[in-house]
Amino acid sequence: MSNKTVLLIGASGGLGRYITLGLASAGYDLALHYHNSFDKLQATLTGINEIETKYKTYKADITSEAEVEALIKCVKEDFGSVDILINNSGISLNGMSWKLSLKDWDKVLAVNLTGPFLCTKHVLPLMKEKKSGRIIYMSSVVAQTGVPGTAAYAATKAGLSGLCKTISKEVIRNGITANLISLGYFEAGLLFQIPEDVRNQIKDAIPKKEFGDPKDVVECILYLCSENSGYLTGQSINLNGGLF
Ligand SMILES: NC(=O)c1ccc[n+]([C@@H]2O[C@H](COP(=O)([O-])OP(=O)(O)OC[C@H]3O[C@@H](n4cnc5c(N)ncnc54)[C@H](OP(=O)(O)O)[C@@H]3O)[C@@H](O)[C@H]2O)c1
Repeated sequence: MSNKTVLLIGASGGLGRYITLGLASAGYDLALHYHNSFDKLQATLTGINEIETKYKTYKADITSEAEVEALIKCVKEDFGSVDILINNSGISLNGMSWKLSLKDWDKVLAVNLTGPFLCTKHVLPLMKEKKSGRIIYMSSVVAQTGVPGTAAYAATKAGLSGLCKTISKEVIRNGITANLISLGYFEAGLLFQIPEDVRNQIKDAIPKKEFGDPKDVVECILYLCSENSGYLTGQSINLNGGLF
């Protein structure tokens, strides 16, 4: 069993639930973040209670630097440090680019790109002190293929790739890795915001002809969290059923 602490941003989301349960089963101590959906996180916690693991929950809007700083200060007080940061929060406000409001564009950028930057910025001093750490960003195949109506979402997910590469180079000498998982379409969370007829078209376009199983995302995260993944950094891992 591991006694490492994971700060999971967006534990209250659809994929967050699977990641939380997977990390708990693997023995990690869990600092579980949510923004508005404590009810959803609470439903996941019922599953965790059956597993012997240390966890605490934290509310924060990751678009606010003050809230991110306060969140990480609390996690440090409760757990001593952060060994692994998983940037899993993300939103999608869709619309053809000529109709997309600046307000929606700014909101998506704030949650999907500024938020992960702020979390990384404030966790890194803790990891640098320990001379070890793992940072994981959640991106999307949409940034690689382009999908009409997703300008803001795709731009932020492409932006995470540049952020991840840069961070990996900045901290490689401190024993810290930074990697990005670029997801296709998984049976959880955001996928269910897409209308059913469009979902069926998407499924048909996936070479494997099925949506991804969230357990595959968990397996990939467990590998990136492990001691054995120290030479893998600055990479994008594509989990997409052959889409890209
Ligand atoms: N599901 C897929 O097929 C898929 C595909 C490609 C990429 N991804 C990526 O995987 C990640 C998880 O996706 P998901 O499907 O699980 O999405 P989801 O169910 O919609 O969850 C989104 C998460 O983001 C959090 N969040 C929203 N606004 C926030 C804010 N201002 N501050 C902090 N947290 C905020 C939500 O917190 P509250 O609910 O507590 O407000 C929730 O935990 C996202 O980054 C997404 O882009 C998912």
